[in-house]
Amino acid sequence: MTRRVAILISGGGSNMVKLVESMGADHPARPVLVLANRADAGGLDRAAALGVPTAVVESRPFKGDREAFESALQSEIAKHAPDILCLAGFMRVLTAGFVQPWSGKMLNIHPSLLPKYRGLHTHARALEAGDGEHGCTVHEVTPELDEGPILGQARVPVLPGDTPDSLAARVLEQEHRLYPAVLRRFAAGDRTRVELG
Ligand code: GRF
Repeated sequence: MTRRVAILISGGGSNMVKLVESMGADHPARPVLVLANRADAGGLDRAAALGVPTAVVESRPFKGDREAFESALQSEIAKHAPDILCLAGFMRVLTAGFVQPWSGKMLNIHPSLLPKYRGLHTHARALEAGDGEHGCTVHEVTPELDEGPILGQARVPVLPGDTPDSLAARVLEQEHRLYPAVLRRFAAGDRTRVELG
């Protein structure tokens, strides 16, 4: 049975584009929605150009009322009846109330080799620590931030002279390889870890 995938974004959606492009005819899943929490998210036009239905649930009007925002978010998502949620550059922290019903069905990509560097500014923190390698992780989303079961990782070298931006660009290239590879396995019911060098 083809799995229905909704992708949540907040910005340019480069990971979303790679996920959508990866779901071809031979893939166990297909995209049914790209949803942004900002009307100015660049990824909305990119999704529409790829023929994927889009929606916006602005988080700003809820002024920090997380439950109200998440209720509106869930209502919009439910209209498209996805089986899997992929967070892809989605910059809102979701409460347990939203996450629990999606347990085992929601993925996120994080720009570090978890469990190192949960949270923000991961590239700067890896540089400050003098790490020789860095990378990205796809994991199942649980109520604890960036804590869920790891489904895949990709590693990159940290090079002399790297800045947070140069390192982020190198990691992003691997994100674009890792997330589609993990989604393909996950949608087929395979939780074997993807490891990319
Ligand atoms: C990426 O660095 C990703 O690791 C993080 O959001 C950033 C932007 O992603 N989750 P995208 O280009 O919007 O997919």
